[in-house]
Amino acid sequence: MDKSLNKKVAVITGASHGLGRSVAIKLAALGAHTVLIARRPDPLSSLADEIRATGGVATAYPCDVSNSESVKGAAAEIHEEFGAVDILINNAGIPAPRSFEETDFGDWDEVIGVNLSGVFYLTRALWDCLISAEAAYVINIAGTAGLRGGGSPAYGSSKFGLTGLNYAIAQAGVEHSIRSTILYPGGMDTGWRGAPIGELPRSESMDPDVVAEMIAHLVTSPPEFVVNEAVLNPLAYPFV
Ligand SMILES: NC(=O)c1ccc[n+]([C@@H]2O[C@H](COP(=O)([O-])OP(=O)(O)OC[C@H]3O[C@@H](n4cnc5c(N)ncnc54)[C@H](OP(=O)(O)O)[C@@H]3O)[C@@H](O)[C@H]2O)c1
Repeated sequence: MDKSLNKKVAVITGASHGLGRSVAIKLAALGAHTVLIARRPDPLSSLADEIRATGGVATAYPCDVSNSESVKGAAAEIHEEFGAVDILINNAGIPAPRSFEETDFGDWDEVIGVNLSGVFYLTRALWDCLISAEAAYVINIAGTAGLRGGGSPAYGSSKFGLTGLNYAIAQAGVEHSIRSTILYPGGMDTGWRGAPIGELPRSESMDPDVVAEMIAHLVTSPPEFVVNEAVLNPLAYPFV
């Protein structure tokens, strides 16, 4: 069995549901010690139990990535327990009202807070841990909304902003052999915006387990090159 991430520490945000859950299960299966982050403790500890039941290693850290104090607390505990962090998957994200006129100041602050500030807070707070790893890998989950503009002002802006942040992380990481990739997935079958799960064909809505496979492929790739960005779409919608 492939245990190529044995002894690696992988922090995954938004780990309790959807893509984050798939990534956590996949990286744990490859031998990583998974560090699970999301706000609600119960789904997180259920996932940690599920991973342990299949022989994997997982620790749950309930944390709101949009709250700088919550992030500082979780990062301090992670630093104390592990020292080094090899993989950081910045996946936690929330949707936003679709139209400009429906978006109020509170929506804007909340979505930018989770989808953009949350990525900066956690990456910055774990920076010393990432430097301490031999060749750390940061993956930032945007979405095709971060490429085409328009649509939801808060969501699109948060994901556009993430592109800038991804390259800032990549640039700062060079001297420490830290890689950073931004992924732009299209529709995934995670129940996003209340969509029913399992009803669309896979060619119209991607299986999050398959996207997790792609992520696993990236983080196990040779450390001397980097995939800067990648667009992943269901076969039926090959456009951004
Ligand atoms: N699904 C799609 O079609 C799609 C398409 C393109 C891009 N994306 C992006 O892919 C990522 C994952 O999407 P998904 O569909 O898997 O989402 P999801 O199923 O709704 O799961 C979101 C996860 O994030 C956690 N979370 C939300 N707010 C948080 C916060 N403030 N702090 C910490 N954790 C938080 C949630 O747990 P708690 O509620 O307990 O915190 C949950 O574990 C997001 O960044 C999303 O923007 C999704």
